[in-house]
Amino acid sequence: MAVTIPVKEFAERRRKLMDRMAPDSIAILPAAPERVRNRDVLHPFRQDSDFQYLTGFGEPEAVLALIPGREHGEAVLFCKERNPEKELWDGFLVGPEGAIERYGFDDAFPIADIDDILPGMIEGRSRVYYPLGKDPAFDNRVMDWLKVIRSKVRSGAHPPGELVALEHLLHDMRLYKSAAEIKVMAKAGQISAEAHCRAMKRARQGGYEYNLEAELIHTFMEHGARSTAYPSIVGGGANGCILHYIENAAPLKDGDLVLVDAGCELECYASDITRTFPVSGKFSPEQKALYEVVLAAQYAAIDAVKPDNHWNQPHEAALRVLTQGLIDLGLLAGTLDDALANESYKPFFMHRTGHWLGLDVHDVGDYKVGDAWRVLEPGMALTVEPGLYIAPDNTDVEPRWRGIGIRIEDDVVVTKEGCRNLTEGVPKTIADIEALMAD
Ligand code: GLY
Ligand code: MN
Ligand code: MN
Repeated sequence: MAVTIPVKEFAERRRKLMDRMAPDSIAILPAAPERVRNRDVLHPFRQDSDFQYLTGFGEPEAVLALIPGREHGEAVLFCKERNPEKELWDGFLVGPEGAIERYGFDDAFPIADIDDILPGMIEGRSRVYYPLGKDPAFDNRVMDWLKVIRSKVRSGAHPPGELVALEHLLHDMRLYKSAAEIKVMAKAGQISAEAHCRAMKRARQGGYEYNLEAELIHTFMEHGARSTAYPSIVGGGANGCILHYIENAAPLKDGDLVLVDAGCELECYASDITRTFPVSGKFSPEQKALYEVVLAAQYAAIDAVKPDNHWNQPHEAALRVLTQGLIDLGLLAGTLDDALANESYKPFFMHRTGHWLGLDVHDVGDYKVGDAWRVLEPGMALTVEPGLYIAPDNTDVEPRWRGIGIRIEDDVVVTKEGCRNLTEGVPKTIADIEALMAD
């Protein structure tokens, strides 16, 4: 089943942003640039997330202008013109007419004409919103358009007085996911869960980490998710203790765990799942003991994802369970309160329990409002990903614990009552993992 964001939702987002903009202002937002990979070869194109959110338009060399109150149309797209000869080589172009018909813009122009047209649209507006400081090349273009207006001051032109970062308005909107966005994210989560199941079933001693990476990509691609949301992490044994391990080239060994952190991107929306399982299909007693602690921490954190709780409560819940677990296993000394106060858990758990999730895997949106943690509200999507990592060279612990790295990560969206887990399609209890791997 194909899921997709309806065209009218993009128009509604533009409307909502314009309603939040100051009167007499203009917002300008460029598409992502194409990037060279190596001679004559480009990286696969990925649209800029903000541009995608407001347009759904997937081409490079495009600029969106939002001009509330403009008589001839408020939502204006500049894009490449249709060109049969170019399209023969590089594929279909939507063109300005197609942009109006198919994407619901009010007005559209060839991108080649932007320097002639856009300064006239900016002129007379008091404030310009744009992604200030994000891309030096685009900053320079905005300055060039302003110079054109300033050069006409003596003929009565009014240059804008304020340049304002667009992010503040836009990123707050992106934090609250619509029903259509949640559908796409749920689909992405479902595909990624299936991919993790496939990797679990196919893990074997003598294979390599990249063999599991291949299984993940197979399932992503099979479902039309042509890209990962971030480079997949497949870390066997002590490689699971390296948080951003992406070499994925070591052999998988019997007796080791393997940590897999991978998610597909679907319609530019990210999924982000981690599972940790034994190469052999059976956990050892030490692996089991640590795994149960991480799993209990993850359940406690997920329980804390509900409206009116604040952003840090899931982290605090996970931290208590992890730290108590380390004390109970003899890996940490002292009382729970002492360990939390002096952060003695940090060598074993050094990252946070989650992040916002959406068009970006580490999605936009403020975590604090002023000095206070943000209160969770329905529609906010986040990951829940506690872990424990016993460094292979940690001589403070008995050798039997060393080199074990475990993380368990799911994607959840806050609902009215609590939260919905978008990635529950892949097992995470020891019994269910062992059963799947034995299958
Ligand atoms: N895979 C990136 C993260 O978990 O934050
Ligand atoms: Mn992850
Ligand atoms: Mn994550």
